[in-house]
Amino acid sequence: MTIEKGNFGSIEKNKPVDFFVLKNKSAIEAKVITLGATLVSLKTPDKNGKFADIVLGYDNTAGYVGDSFYFGCTVGRFANRIANAKFKLDSKEYKLAANNGGNHHLHGGLCGYNKVLWNAKPFEQSDYCGVVFKYLSVDGEEGYPGNLDVTVTYTLTNDDELKIDYKAATDKKTIINLTNHSYFNLAGHDSGDILSHLVQINSDVVTESDDDLIPTGKLLPIKNTAYDFTEQKTVGRDISKLPAGYDINYVLKKASQQELSFAARVSEAKSGRVMEISTTEPGIQFYTGNFLNGAKGKNGAIYKKQNALCLETQHYPDSPNQPGFPSVILEPGKTYRHLTIHKFSVQ
Ligand code: GLA
Repeated sequence: MTIEKGNFGSIEKNKPVDFFVLKNKSAIEAKVITLGATLVSLKTPDKNGKFADIVLGYDNTAGYVGDSFYFGCTVGRFANRIANAKFKLDSKEYKLAANNGGNHHLHGGLCGYNKVLWNAKPFEQSDYCGVVFKYLSVDGEEGYPGNLDVTVTYTLTNDDELKIDYKAATDKKTIINLTNHSYFNLAGHDSGDILSHLVQINSDVVTESDDDLIPTGKLLPIKNTAYDFTEQKTVGRDISKLPAGYDINYVLKKASQQELSFAARVSEAKSGRVMEISTTEPGIQFYTGNFLNGAKGKNGAIYKKQNALCLETQHYPDSPNQPGFPSVILEPGKTYRHLTIHKFSVQ
């Protein structure tokens, strides 16, 4: 295992951004930066041992400062949408930025966890290495109550797993939903569309949503619909049956709450790359990069619609306003935990 540290530029007021490259014995490399506790590149071998960077991103800090797609970042305090940008806790209403579709709140607001600098501490053991990122999200930031101490730990193991472990504690009752927003293309970040990727999701129900992608509260069985990924199928097989591609929350099958269990598998035939995701979270947003519109990415790459897919492990969207959904409330004295593991292999 090795870790290399360096400078990734700086944001306003000369605040330097650091990068860390984690490398394991199979030479898999994960590069993370302190801006947004973001995964900026992930190099894994194909079936012939040829490495490619399989996540979308930018070459430099300026790219991430200007980003509106959430490439690779940590999303918080509340990932995904909150209807009408408001919620109630103990009958007190909290107002948030309406930064989505004019009315709704998305991914933590105007300056979410993706746009802030995190403190970083690398660590190294014989079989794994990683970086612990910490951020204090103050009471009232982006409208959320409570000082929230957040820790996100990336660990790369010699078993070819990239683990993302989240922990948080608050001093006032609050809501929380953290995720990572990596965009994957297992053929390589600059390889065109992901329609021939095979996907399987461990779910037979999605949270039905309206035209603004806000859940209606109903759970929709997906058997034999375009949303059905219970058996692996290509992303492209049924995508044209949907108005804009996939962008929906799957309810994961779990034997018990917070169980670390299989969530999704993605593979790409030409490269032979396989990614398996397991998580303690109750849901996963499957998003096929429908809003990508020619963003200028790493090494001159142009990212177009459906050139990547996201599988965001999470609590269901708009949970603060949906009493029937698993709770996203964090009380003082309790610890928020979320573990997601991405395992890489070839077939
Ligand atoms: C999530 C949402 C999408 C979109 C992206 C960011 O995946 O579900 O609708 O907002 O984030 O572009």
